[in-house]
Amino acid sequence: MTEAKIEAWLEEDRAFAPHEEFAAQANAQPSIYADADRDPVAWWRQQANRLTWASEPTTTLEWELPNARWFADGTLNASVSCVDVHVKEGRGSRVAFHWVADAEGESRTITYHELSRQVNRTANALIELGVTKGDRVAVYMPMIPEAIFTMLAVVRLGAIHSVVFAGFSAEALASRILDSDCRFVVTADGAFRRGAPSPLKPAVDEALTSCPDVSAVLVVKRTDGDVGWVEGRDHWWHDVVERQSDVHEPEAFGAETPMFIMYTSGTTAKPKGIFHTTAGYLTQVATTYHYVFDVKPETDVCWTAADIGWITGHSYIVYGPLINGVTQVMYEGLPDSGGRDRWWKIISEHRVSILYTAPTTIRTLMKWGHQLPASFDLSSLRLLGTVGEPINPEAWMWYRKNIGANRCPIVDTWWQTETGAILCSPLPGITATKPGAAMRALPGIYVAVVDNDGNEVGHGEGGYLVVTHPWPSMTRGIWGDPDRFFDTYWSRFPGKYFAGDGAKLDPDGDLWLLGRVDDVMNISGHRLSTTEVEHALVGHHAVAEAAVVGASDDTTGQAIVAFVTLKLSAEDAEKDQARIIEELRQHVSSTISPIAKPRQIILTPDLPKTRSGKIMRRLLRDVAENRSLGDVTTLTDPTVVNMIAGLMETHASSED
Ligand code: PRX
Repeated sequence: MTEAKIEAWLEEDRAFAPHEEFAAQANAQPSIYADADRDPVAWWRQQANRLTWASEPTTTLEWELPNARWFADGTLNASVSCVDVHVKEGRGSRVAFHWVADAEGESRTITYHELSRQVNRTANALIELGVTKGDRVAVYMPMIPEAIFTMLAVVRLGAIHSVVFAGFSAEALASRILDSDCRFVVTADGAFRRGAPSPLKPAVDEALTSCPDVSAVLVVKRTDGDVGWVEGRDHWWHDVVERQSDVHEPEAFGAETPMFIMYTSGTTAKPKGIFHTTAGYLTQVATTYHYVFDVKPETDVCWTAADIGWITGHSYIVYGPLINGVTQVMYEGLPDSGGRDRWWKIISEHRVSILYTAPTTIRTLMKWGHQLPASFDLSSLRLLGTVGEPINPEAWMWYRKNIGANRCPIVDTWWQTETGAILCSPLPGITATKPGAAMRALPGIYVAVVDNDGNEVGHGEGGYLVVTHPWPSMTRGIWGDPDRFFDTYWSRFPGKYFAGDGAKLDPDGDLWLLGRVDDVMNISGHRLSTTEVEHALVGHHAVAEAAVVGASDDTTGQAIVAFVTLKLSAEDAEKDQARIIEELRQHVSSTISPIAKPRQIILTPDLPKTRSGKIMRRLLRDVAENRSLGDVTTLTDPTVVNMIAGLMETHASSED
């Protein structure tokens, strides 16, 4: 979003005060910020009482930058806080999940009691396959309940899950398995997408050709397709899990026991294994779920429309909601599986009251027209959330008006894989909201916007977002690479965590996020690095050099534009350009994921470079976004960039 747009909205003074009726019932009361400010560490210790401890911690924060330990001498079992406690305290018959399949009419209802039995069985099956404390287990699954049983069973054993989004390629899966030395994989034969089965197991089989240390693969049967099978290594879920006892005695582990690894893109070609530990992470996801989403577990039906393959799914489908004991909808399909009104059907059928999704989805739903939601009863909704990228004011207003009937507060939640849980967001009932602003840090969280030298900027000014104090759910590092952890996040502004986002404080001092300031792109809320895509492109035999930029896009927030120079073999030279471009787009899709497929590839004889040989991505971004070019005097050959701009125009007009 441009600053000019923000200014324009602010001039209209478009701020919404908290709804009085909502405020009267809200979980968060106005004193909460001051309560936390008095002693933030003690405040977090109090919040840690949301967990079920085997032995309560006597320590709180131990902080030696960049390493934090929270509640370190306490012991607990993560899955007990999520599941067992609810059964034990008489909430076993409450629905944990209404699982809704891609196909209309197919669904499953899972109570907390049933969830407990399934998690225990899965844990017993994993033990039989050889999983023990500290082992890494890769999870490559569609949005089916077994994915959640698996995550909870893994942490129940003190093992570590690494969930890899099922849209990633075999190569991406293999590199993640190898990086954290996963010895086990849990997957499914396939998934459903708009009614059609799409195989998953072949990608696992291909990935495992380069991962010889994986000893067992557990496979859920979801489709009817044939699958390749390696005897001794592969096991059907229904053969191994279903015959297990549904009793499993949980062990208690130390609060800082590693719980999961989640790979995310940084500024290099190699994704980083961000890892989180147990009690700090669980405390903050549970606390933020309680206050930001204002959940009332007895009556709410919550729907976080995200995939478990991303951090949003971990924190706000699995751990945060389950600790709070809420009822959720878990949906397998796409927004238009079965028709473009599918979401509204699900909301009205299940009486969803809290909906959490990404701006890119809101924009897609918006394109499909307000008539679709208008023809359903959405009166059950009482709170809306957004996450993943800056939300443009138009989409925010559409969401508020057409989905929230101008009465549901919208929480614009800023956070990252690394932060584990929400750090900045309005609190419904307390904080006023503005279309496109995350507003302020949550209680117990301290952020600032700083200039290039690390000095805090004033109201009305922009800079970089930093976090100034440690927080419970902060990542404990990059798996296997402590130096990179310090260099990436803690070295740019000494003593502060540098998030990689630009931000601005408006004249009222409220916070607006402006997007990444590094080489990380945000495509439909998915993080990808420019180098990662360049790396994939130059892996194609016809490519000599590639430069990738994220250009703004009306639906996906940003879209990938690649500038490529070719080294054509005689055979390739025969092909026309359109065919080569399509081949390159497919190549990126199969090397990384369909998410990474460039929107546009411009074939060019040269790339703009500085005299020291660095590709000037800034200029290419200007070209991709059709802006006038900035300073070109440092280029070896300033004519190159004009030539590329010309190619871009030709390309655009040939597409019209
Ligand atoms: O640029 C910010 C953007 O998403 C990045 C984090 O991406 P990831 O680790 O994949 O986690 C996404 C889900 C938490 C951030 O650096 N981002 C996330 N939420 C917002 C946002 N940008 C603006 N507003 C948000 N609410």
